[in-house]
Amino acid sequence: MSILAQNRSVEDEDHLFRLLRQLDIAPQASQRATATALGISLGRLNAQLRVAADAGLIKITDRDDTDKRKRFAYVITLRGGSEKNRLTDAFLKRKFTEYDALHAELTGTTSGLSPFKHRTKLMQNNLAPVPELYVSYDSSQKMKLEAADLTSHDLTPRQICDLELLMNGGFNPLKGFLSEADYNGVVDNMRLADGTLWPMPITLDVKADYADTVEIGQDIALRDQEGVILGTMTVTDKWTPNKAHEAEKVFGADDSAHPAVNYLHNTAGDVYLGGPVTGIQQPVHYDFRARRDTPNELRAYFRKMGWRKVVAFQTRNPLHRAHQELTFRAAKEAQANLLIHPVVGLTKPGDVDHFTRVRCYEAVLDQYPSSTTAMSLLNLAMRMAGPREAVWHGLIRKNHGCTHFIVGRDHAGPGNNSQGEDFYGPYDAQDLFREHQEEMGIIMVDFKHMVWVSERAQYEAMDEIKDKEDVTILNISGTELRRRLVEGLEIPEWFSFPQVVAELRKTKPARDKQGFTVFLTGFSGSGKSTIANALMVKLMEMGGRPVTLLDGDIVRKNLSSELGFSKEHRDLNIRRIGYVASEITKNGGIAICAPIAPYATTRRAVREDIEGFGAFIEIHVATSIEECERRDRKGLYKLARAGKIKEFTGISDPYDVPTNPEMSMETENVEVDNCAHQIILKLESMGLIKA
Ligand code: PPS
Repeated sequence: MSILAQNRSVEDEDHLFRLLRQLDIAPQASQRATATALGISLGRLNAQLRVAADAGLIKITDRDDTDKRKRFAYVITLRGGSEKNRLTDAFLKRKFTEYDALHAELTGTTSGLSPFKHRTKLMQNNLAPVPELYVSYDSSQKMKLEAADLTSHDLTPRQICDLELLMNGGFNPLKGFLSEADYNGVVDNMRLADGTLWPMPITLDVKADYADTVEIGQDIALRDQEGVILGTMTVTDKWTPNKAHEAEKVFGADDSAHPAVNYLHNTAGDVYLGGPVTGIQQPVHYDFRARRDTPNELRAYFRKMGWRKVVAFQTRNPLHRAHQELTFRAAKEAQANLLIHPVVGLTKPGDVDHFTRVRCYEAVLDQYPSSTTAMSLLNLAMRMAGPREAVWHGLIRKNHGCTHFIVGRDHAGPGNNSQGEDFYGPYDAQDLFREHQEEMGIIMVDFKHMVWVSERAQYEAMDEIKDKEDVTILNISGTELRRRLVEGLEIPEWFSFPQVVAELRKTKPARDKQGFTVFLTGFSGSGKSTIANALMVKLMEMGGRPVTLLDGDIVRKNLSSELGFSKEHRDLNIRRIGYVASEITKNGGIAICAPIAPYATTRRAVREDIEGFGAFIEIHVATSIEECERRDRKGLYKLARAGKIKEFTGISDPYDVPTNPEMSMETENVEVDNCAHQIILKLESMGLIKA
C-alpha cells in the first residue's frame, strides 16, 4: 500500500488520517492496542508506520522496554501535525459534501447550508465548555471569609449584570473589568489591547472619593446591593475616562438623548477601576430561576439534545405573531434549532417590565415545537448601542453556544436623538455584524420585516411581496400597540396571541386607571404649593385613585430634614421625591410634587424613574422672578438680597427653565382655581382622568 503516494486514493487518505489521529490520541499505547483501535492487523500497522516515518510524519523512538510489545514509541513530527490538520479538514469537507447531498435528497431542495469554512469552525467550538471565572466551592467559602477584611464596592444594578456575564463566561474572553489599555482599544477601534474584537467597554465606574481609597495592586470585594459578596477584583488600573470621547466613539454622539450617554454622564461614577475578577458566587435571582441558564448550562443542553446548530433570537419586547413567523423563518433558513433569548437585565427605559414579558413568552412557548426550540433568559444590561451592540450580542450568543444570530432592522436602537433624528441608519447594525462575522465565529441571519397580508391571511416578508399595490398590508407599530393598550382599544388576532394581550392588559390597565405623577417646578413663591393643593382636592373629589402631595416644604420637613441647598443636597432631595413618586405611580396612585427642582438633569432623571411606571407631567409654574420677589410671602427674597440666605434660587443660584414641559402656566392675574382646572383639562386630554 502506498499511503504517501502523490495521488493517494480517498481510502489511503482516510487510513493516514486515522493513523495520525490515533497516534495523537494515544501515543503511549502498545502496537497491538493501536492496531486494534484502527481495526487492522499488526503487520499492516507496521507497514503504515514505516511509510509514515520515512515521510517524516512520525518519529519512532526506542523505549528501552523489556516488554517487546511496548518497545517503540511514536511521536508525530511538526510536519506530521500539519498533515494531520490538512487531512482533518479534507475529511470533514468530504463528510459535509455527503451530508449536503443527503440533505438535498431528503428535502428535495438544493442545500442552503452555509459555507464549509464556517461550519467546521463552529461545529468544533460551540458545544465545548467556555471558561468561567469562578473558583471551586471550597475556595469560595474560604475567600468569603477572607474578603471580610477587604475594601468593598457596592455594585450598581448594571455592574451586577456585567459581573454575572463576566464570571459565567458570557463575556468570554474578558477576564475582568477592562484595564485602561483594553478600554482605550475598545473605545477607539472595538479591540482589546491584544487585538481581540470586543465592541463594548465593560468598566467598573466608581465615585472619585471611593477611588481615592483604592490603591493599585489592592484586592477589592464586589458586593451586591444586599452586601452579598459575589467576587473580588485585583485593581490593576485606575483612571479618569474622557466620557465625551467614549460617548462619541461608542454610541455615535455625545448626546444625552441616548440612554447610555445619559447614564454615562449622569449616573456612572467619574473614575474607572480595572482588573481581573475572581468569581465567588452567582448573583442571586429569586424570579424565573429555572429559566435562567449560564453559557455552559446552555451548551450542555445543546449537547444533550444533539443540537449542532442553534439560531438565537434576542428580544426586549413581548413576542407577537410577526416575531413567531420571523423566528420560524430564521430557524428554517439556517436549518438550525431556535433559542429564544430575551434580555431580562436592564433594557430601554419605558420597556414592558421583564416579569410581564416572561409571562408573555411562557404563554406562547407552546406555539413552538419543543423538540427544536428552547427559551432562556439573559441577565444582560443593554446599552442600546445599535451596530456595536449587535456585534456584542453576537459574541455573547456565541459564548452561549449559538451558531447563528438574528439581527434586525435598527437592532438595539436607542430612539431619536435630541434633534429628533435616528442615531443610526436602519441597516448599520447588520453591516457591522456582516463585516466581523467571520472573525466572531457566529453567522448573522438578517431580520425580515414581517407584515400581515390581509387577502392571503398570512405574514410575509415586506421586501418579498411582489404585488404590494394589489394587497392590503397591515402592521401595528410598538407605539400604536402601546396606544391601544393604554386606551383599552381592540388588538386584532392577526397581530398577537390572545394570551399575550391578556397579560399585557393586566399590567397596563387603561390610562384612566393607571398611576401618574404631576411635577410642578418653579421659583420659590411662584404658586406651586397653592396650585398643588387645589389640584389635590379636585382629584380627590373625583375619587378612584389615592392622591399624595409631595410639596417642597412637606418633603424637607419629613424626608430631607438634614439637607441644605447646595447642588448636591438639592439633587438628593429631588431624587428622593422622584423615588417616592415612582413608587406611588407604580402602585396605581397619583403623586403631586411641588419642589423648586431647579436643575434640568435632575428633573430628567426623575422623569425616567417614573415613566417606567406611568405618565410624568412636568408643569412649569412660570411666574417671573420679579413677581415672586414682589410677592415675597415668606420674606425670604429680602433675606437673600441682603446676603443672609446663600444660594437662593433665582437670586444667587441658577434655575434651568424647562425646555419641553407638558405644560407651562402663567399665574399673574390668574385665579388658583383656574390654574388647577387647566391641569385637570390637560390630564383629561391625556386620557389620565375621565370627565
Ligand atoms: S429644591 O431646590 O427643589 O431642593 O428646593 P425645595 O425642596 O423645593 O425647597 C424650597 C423651599 O425652601 C425654602 N428655601 C429656599 N429655596 C431656594 N433656595 C434657597 N437657598 C432656600 N432656602 C430656603 C423656600 O421657602 C422654598 O419654598 P417654596 O415652597 O418653593 O417657596
